[in-house]
Amino acid sequence: MDYIKREGNWIPKLGFGTFNLTGRDVLGALEFALDVGYRHIDTAQMYENEDEIGKVLAKTSVSRDRLFITTKVWWTNLSKKDFLPSVEDSLRKLKQDYVDLLLIHWPNKDIPLEESLEQLEKAKLKGYAKLIGVSNFNVELLERVEKFGTPIACNQFEYHALLNQDKLIQKTRSLSAFVTAYSPIARGQVGDEEVLKKISLRYRVSATQVALRWLVQQEDVVAIPKSRQLVRIKQNFDVFNFSLTEEEMQQISALRQKNLRLIDPEFAPSWD
Ligand SMILES: NC(=O)c1ccc[n+]([C@@H]2O[C@H](COP(=O)([O-])OP(=O)(O)OC[C@H]3O[C@@H](n4cnc5c(N)ncnc54)[C@H](OP(=O)(O)O)[C@@H]3O)[C@@H](O)[C@H]2O)c1
Repeated sequence: MDYIKREGNWIPKLGFGTFNLTGRDVLGALEFALDVGYRHIDTAQMYENEDEIGKVLAKTSVSRDRLFITTKVWWTNLSKKDFLPSVEDSLRKLKQDYVDLLLIHWPNKDIPLEESLEQLEKAKLKGYAKLIGVSNFNVELLERVEKFGTPIACNQFEYHALLNQDKLIQKTRSLSAFVTAYSPIARGQVGDEEVLKKISLRYRVSATQVALRWLVQQEDVVAIPKSRQLVRIKQNFDVFNFSLTEEEMQQISALRQKNLRLIDPEFAPSWD
């Protein structure tokens, strides 16, 4: 495993995504993921699985200081009145005193950003989160964060080989924040790419593993693939025993011209 370090915290560059994993599915998948070696778990209030994840965390033999847990405040909970109570509810469900990273899940144009950032900072001051950050923020919103002065450690957004995110990565890095790439395998679609298939044969891995390797080999980029299938959970984790050449990295980067964006809800900001 490779790591990123921020404010004394070590962030595993490969995490376990849990969107769309609920009930018994998330129990089995997460227990297996921890057995395989995942130590970074990505959840959110909106995923409605914090409760189940809390049950697994309460039972695991993996010590708390080896885990990196992220949750996200849903965009309807960003007001002064709702923000902290919603985080307290998340912690209760997760059975944790703190999360390692707390994110604003999506911006909400009806609530002043500064009001939400103040609450985010308060959550950190209260010890609810070791690190704070944002998700689905565009360059303009990051500029507002910068102006307000909230020290964010992360911007989590859609990033995979088929989507050009150069501008957003550059802006995120300029704030000393790392990138968490969500939908890192484009919900399975990267597996069909000929360039990735060809490279995968050289290393006897799958095209999906090459796509994940391409992400984690980039500076300050974390990838959080999700799977409910045990074989895939293991396969997605095994991307640290080979490395891509500079030429291969560039060949894969060239796929970005496809500009495939998968996540674009009506409340999304205008993308860069
Ligand atoms: N911040 C945000 O707004 C936001 C938005 C979206 C996602 N996320 C986070 O990012 C995580 C990952 O993103 P995602 O779930 O959207 O997409 P993803 O990880 O790119 O892809 C998941 C999909 O790919 C399939 N899959 C997994 N491993 C595979 C493999 N080795 N080969 C072929 N197919 C494979 C999965 O099916 P099976 O389960 O059947 O294997 C699932 O349908 C989420 O779970 C969530 O934690 C955050």
